[in-house]
Order: sequence, then C-alpha cells, then structure tokens
Amino acid sequence: MSEGKTEEVLVINFGGQYAHMIARRVRQLGVFSELVNPRDLTPSLLELKNARAIILSGGPSSVYEPSAPKVEPWVFSAGLPTLGICYGFQLAAKLMGGDVSKGEGEYGPTRISVESSPLFEGWEKTEIVWMSHADMVTRPPPGAKVVAKSEKGYVAALEFGTQVFGVQFHPEVAHTPKGMTLLSNFLFKVSGIKPSWNASSAIDAAVNEIRHKVKSGEKVFCAVSGGVDSTVSALIAKKAVGDDLVTVFVDHGLLREGEAEEVMQTLSGLGLKPKRVDASALFLNALKGISDPEEKRKVIGELFGRVFEDILSSDPSIRWLVQGTTYPDVVESGEQSLAERIKSHHNVAGLPPRLTKRVGLLEPLRYLYKDEVRAMARELGAANVAARQPFPGPGLAVRVIGEVTQEKLLTVRKASRIVEEEVRASGIQVWQAFAVVGDDRWVGVKGDKREEGLIVTVRVVTSEDGMTADWARLPHDLITKIANRITSEVQGVSMVTFAVSPKPPSTIEPC
Ligand code: XMP
Repeated sequence: MSEGKTEEVLVINFGGQYAHMIARRVRQLGVFSELVNPRDLTPSLLELKNARAIILSGGPSSVYEPSAPKVEPWVFSAGLPTLGICYGFQLAAKLMGGDVSKGEGEYGPTRISVESSPLFEGWEKTEIVWMSHADMVTRPPPGAKVVAKSEKGYVAALEFGTQVFGVQFHPEVAHTPKGMTLLSNFLFKVSGIKPSWNASSAIDAAVNEIRHKVKSGEKVFCAVSGGVDSTVSALIAKKAVGDDLVTVFVDHGLLREGEAEEVMQTLSGLGLKPKRVDASALFLNALKGISDPEEKRKVIGELFGRVFEDILSSDPSIRWLVQGTTYPDVVESGEQSLAERIKSHHNVAGLPPRLTKRVGLLEPLRYLYKDEVRAMARELGAANVAARQPFPGPGLAVRVIGEVTQEKLLTVRKASRIVEEEVRASGIQVWQAFAVVGDDRWVGVKGDKREEGLIVTVRVVTSEDGMTADWARLPHDLITKIANRITSEVQGVSMVTFAVSPKPPSTIEPC
C-alpha cells in the first residue's frame, strides 16, 4: 500500500444501470471511488490505485452464460474486503462454489429479514430494500452464511467469510432507505477505511496526478469556456504547472448575449487570463446547411479540434491537453463499456486522433459529477462559476433545432436572456432555464397585421446531476411574464410554448 496516497474503493463495472451510483455514494461517504472495467482488474492495478476495498457492481448478464463478464477468483483472496451487489453477488457466489439459476425474480421494494452481521449494524430485523433481479443464488457456497432472506425465502445476503460479503439488493439507490448505512458499515467497520475524500483532497489528488504525468518544460493547454467544468480543470492545471499552463477562450459565435466579455472578466479575476480566439465565422460557416443534431455536434467537435491544433502547432512545447470531461459526458457518449450512446458530448467525441497522438490527454474530472465539480469550484475560490447554470459546449447550436441560421440564432439568444433573467429574478433554483427555437412557424397578429413568426420553446428543468431531470413547476404568472416578454421583445416570434417532458424520455437540450 502506498503511503500518503488517497485510499480508494474500486467499483468493478459489470454494466449495471446503477454502477455509477455506487461510486458516487462511496464518495459521498468521504472515500474516493472510481469505476473499473473487469478486464482491467489486476493485482498491480490494486497497488497503483491504493485500493482498500472492492465492490462488484450489478449488471445485465447472467453469471452462467459463457460470455458473462467475470473477475478471476484471485480477487477474493487478495486480502481486500469485497462486497458483491446483485450480479456481483451472484458472481462471487458462483466463483466460490455456489449455484446461481434463473428464478421467478424480485423487482422493486422488497421486505427482507436480516441476521446479525457487520453489514447490517443499524438495521432493524426487517427492512425494505430495492431488488431488480431474475437470477438468484439457489445454493450458497460451502461455508457461506446466509445473513438476509427476502419475504419469499430467497437468499438476500451472504457472508462468504469475514471480508467478503454479497447482497442481492441495491444499497446504492435511494429506494433502499438503509442503503447508505450498509455502505458505510462496509467501508468503515469492515474495511477500516478513514474518510478523507472531500473537495479539497479531490483537488490535491488531481493536482498531484497532473504533476506526476507532466515533465518539467512541457506545457499544458486548456481551452476554457467559463463553465464550471473547464474552469475547475484549468485552475487545477494551474496549481499543478503554474505558468506552463496556456489557456484559450474560443468564441465560436454560439454564445449567449454578453457571455464572451463576462467570461473573460471572470477568468481573469481567477488568474487565468486566457487568450481570446474569435472563431465565430469559421463555426457559423461550417454549420451552414446542417440540420442533423449529431452532424452539428460532430462539426463543432471537429472545429474545436482544428482550432486546438492551430494553437498547438504554434507552440511545440505544448505536450498536454486538459479537458473538463465529467462522468455523465463519458456515460452519455457511450464510452463506458456496455452503455448506449445518447449524444456525442463534444468533450468526449470529436478530437482528431492526430491531435491526441501529438499531446497527452488530462481529464481531472472524468469520474466526477457536476455537484462534486461545483464543490471543487467553491474550494478554489470560484463560487460565482459554481453557481452558473450548465451551458453545453456546442452552445446555442444545440438549442436551435434544424439549421443554425442568423435569424434563429438571434431569436434564441434574445429569448434565452429573457428566460434566464426572469427565472433568476424569481429566486427559484433550477438546473437550467433556456429558450429553444426550430423552424415551425405560428401565425400571429401584430398591430392588426398578419405575421408568421417563429415558435420559441421555454425549457426549465430541475435535476441533481443532469442524468435525469424534470420540468420545473414554475408559477403560472412567471411563465406568462416570460412568454409576454418574448413575444413583445423578440422580433419575429409569435408563439411561446413550455416544455413539460422529463428526462427520460426527453433529453434536457433539444439536440
Ligand atoms: P442532455 O441534453 O444530454 O444534457 O440531457 C445533459 C446535460 O449536459 C449538458 N450538455 C452538454 N454539456 N457538452 C457539454 O459540455 C455537450 O455537448 C453537452 N450536451 C448537453 C446539458 O446542457 C445538460 O445540462
């Protein structure tokens, strides 16, 4: 075990929909945690990461299928406390000699009865847990002790020894009310880990990692947008390499009203003094005639890549590129094994291989969620940046449905300012509030004259992490005020609609 290095819990990702939640919950308890692909789990990885415990996640496969993802049995004798959850539990049971087979399954809230076990300290004799499985452990391995059973009599938890445990249910979801108690029992009572991970230690760890990778004399490049992800990444890189950090603010012409000036001022106040590059003509020309959302994202990603390449070729001592990729970007781009691609987030897709061959990639926020990044921003003295609403890298291009024309861009820019202004003035806390425009038109009457105007959709959502969202129940008076201001102040708009679909099924941004 390496002294002084952050203690870590590795979550082995078998592709379950809640796998990322496990790592997040562990970090909420003050212990650093990240997801690891089962293929990458080796004794040297445990050493490298200073792993103090392992959690095997759930997953959609069945352990008895030949192609099912696995870990090797050495994991259970590596001397590390291990907790299997759902699929991970069944895998542990099978690898240690038990039987797993398809059964009638248990789904949703399920009552279980528990026996005395370090895992269940603080639990009542019966508790509600969240189940989501068809397979079950039908015969525990020799020597394993059943410490919980469901109402139907099925095995709900096993102790495989003093260090290895498994639960059939999901402690990481909010629907298991005592789930966090179980996880903290595993981390602190079973594994003896001391909570030490917080915004400040997360910053230190990220700074150390960059220092470890970047050699003296090598410069580091970071494009900053003023958003919390790129600002925190740049501030971390600045702490790590000081004046060897080169920052650039690329104005792609798809920003909100007054945004470029505001951002330049804020970043300068944080000591980042970026060079401003006006690439608006380049981006707006390239977007002409393109209406497919994924195509727009691809073009923007590629252009960012091209602008970055120009900057890199002007200074050969730049050897590293910092990106503010966060975990939801990775998941939604389908980069994490077994996850579906929802959108090519520009941070993750689009960088030309030429560029990534020429420089190394530094992604200090790759495993983190927005609320964790915001806590780091506050710690770094950037509370105003932490309070900003997320704004997508491709900017207003993803809030214009169909082709990005001057008329639509102007409309969305002006309408968005009104939406943001009014929601801010109301004091109501939301995740994002913005306007969207497409090609559909609505007949209006202005000054007794017929006018076919654009339709602006107002999208205001609440969310914890951007992965799921709901529409904000704004007071009707506020919606009315926003709608009236848009139709009277934004030329060429004759109808305002309010978007009321949650995510899922809809995404937050329209494109
Ligand atoms: P969606 O629309 O996928 O958005 O539900 C989830 C969150 O991510 C933001 N978003 C992006 N952020 N680059 C970014 O930096 C992107 O390409 C991108 N696309 C969406 C979106 O604003 C929301 O907060």
